[in-house]
Amino acid sequence: MQEHRYDVLIVGAGGAGMRAAIEAAPRARTAVLTKLYPTRSHTGAAQGGMCAALANVEEDNWEWHTFDTVKGGDYIVDQDAAEIMAKEAIDAVLDLEKMGLPFNRTPEGRIDQRRFGGHTRDHGKAPVRRACYAADRTGHMILQTLYQNCVKHDVEFFNEFYALDLCLSENEDGELTATGVVAYELATGEIHVFHAKSIVFATGGSGRMYKTTSNAHTLTGDGMGIVFRKGLPLEDMEFHQFHPTGLAGLGILISEAVRGEGGILRNVDGERFMERYAPTIKDLAPRDIVARSMVLEVLEGRGAGPNKDYVYIDVTHLGEDVLNEKLPDITEFARTYLGVDPVTEYVPVFPTCHYVMGGIPTNVEGQVLRNNTEIVHGLFAAGECACVSVHGANRLGTNSLLDINVFGRRAGIAAAEYANSASFVPLPEAPTTMVDGWLETLLSEHGHERVADIRTSLQATMDANASVFRTEDTLKQALKDVQALKERYAHIRIHDKGKRFNSDLLEAIELGFLLEMAEVTVVGAINRKESRGGHAREDYPTRDDVNFMRHTMAYKKGTDLLSDIELDYKPVVQTRYEPMERKY
Ligand code: FUM
Repeated sequence: MQEHRYDVLIVGAGGAGMRAAIEAAPRARTAVLTKLYPTRSHTGAAQGGMCAALANVEEDNWEWHTFDTVKGGDYIVDQDAAEIMAKEAIDAVLDLEKMGLPFNRTPEGRIDQRRFGGHTRDHGKAPVRRACYAADRTGHMILQTLYQNCVKHDVEFFNEFYALDLCLSENEDGELTATGVVAYELATGEIHVFHAKSIVFATGGSGRMYKTTSNAHTLTGDGMGIVFRKGLPLEDMEFHQFHPTGLAGLGILISEAVRGEGGILRNVDGERFMERYAPTIKDLAPRDIVARSMVLEVLEGRGAGPNKDYVYIDVTHLGEDVLNEKLPDITEFARTYLGVDPVTEYVPVFPTCHYVMGGIPTNVEGQVLRNNTEIVHGLFAAGECACVSVHGANRLGTNSLLDINVFGRRAGIAAAEYANSASFVPLPEAPTTMVDGWLETLLSEHGHERVADIRTSLQATMDANASVFRTEDTLKQALKDVQALKERYAHIRIHDKGKRFNSDLLEAIELGFLLEMAEVTVVGAINRKESRGGHAREDYPTRDDVNFMRHTMAYKKGTDLLSDIELDYKPVVQTRYEPMERKY
């Protein structure tokens, strides 16, 4: 076992983790440990843009942005946090520009801006150009820029280190403090303990619980799972976002920027069906509304293809030059993966699991909440694994790249300031005991179950029963299936018993986290007897503000994989916007 000591330890090297590191490193001794080489992080897959009311190409302001975020999130957004995000968006974009990010430009040399779903002028009157972008590779450019700036700030990286446990210490007053992280080095199989004053989790989402997803294979809910197993809550996990335009049958992302640039969704009859569902902003309605509309078209028999199970995105009118200049990656994806040329043909699309709005609850400084009122000292979270809650029940496109920059920065500053004011709290006496026993059990198990089989069954039941539309019956089926899979998981066999790059072991651990995150998702969804944002209940088709205008807080009771989940609630922070009917 090797032990390391840092003032600030960041777990995860996607956009949020690296943005935090850029702030923490000049202020305190900082290290980042990451399952993946940093520039392979999933932030790199984000395509269409990062929004900020720069008003570079038309009138805009941060108040309209705040309003759109709150309304887009179906009014379960914490409005104080949304206001901070929209205000700080402008500097967040300018910071990236100064760091060297090559944004697309207007002819006058300003950062260009494009339309995106749910972003509007003057409280919903018309779509507004708010998304700053670098072709359809915005996330890729952000990731590269942040990495280069981390190198500039001498951030120390522990690449291909997989965090497995969080050390917490409780004082005589019952206050919790985070003291370290236990991690597994993939190259050697060695266990490392990182003793730190501040720990920032920025470990991304959990979309791999679904088969149809735009998420990378690595998005298995690890960070959320680690804190959940420590008895800390997860917030609003029933809200997963289904991005409308995944390549049909594959789930690979076709950026919403396609619609921002003028792409049109059509059913089998060629009809622009979004005119019926969102007459004012049509194809640029928020994602929950567009995804539901697409599924309804299919359910009502207006789907296309041999099984009538998808619709089309039509960009044929945009012309080859626009596609090549502004949407080169998605043009290539359609050609490569479906053999369809968007220049001349409609592209088959269907909703794909893209993002989890919920996660580890934090305040606006990124401090992790232990319950509705108390924090865990020295523990921070940012990015998709966190829930500050700026996305509520449905995130607007481009608010994610914004979230990681605004709240990654805030968490980095707060973590460094805390570290500079605090002393090291001792680690537990034998910090690796749990992890040693866990790995030993996994590797010595002679069970008969295959990890891949359990994962396939998990993804199948989540796709079938907890997707865009759900009911009590489908969700209860999903819960039954997930719990049965957890029983089977107790009998897995890991064939590779070796130490070096044991991806067999890695996938088994990831599956454990996924199963647990799926269960939290489904339990929260069963309990939320209303439809709101990404959670559309066929049996409760309307939003119920009287009973469900509140955040779900899920706690694990007990320490083994089969322990129960207990639900509690947290009030939504409302400042200036009263909940209204969502018309677009
Ligand atoms: O459609 C997209 O380009 C995705 C953007 C986002 O999720 O923010």
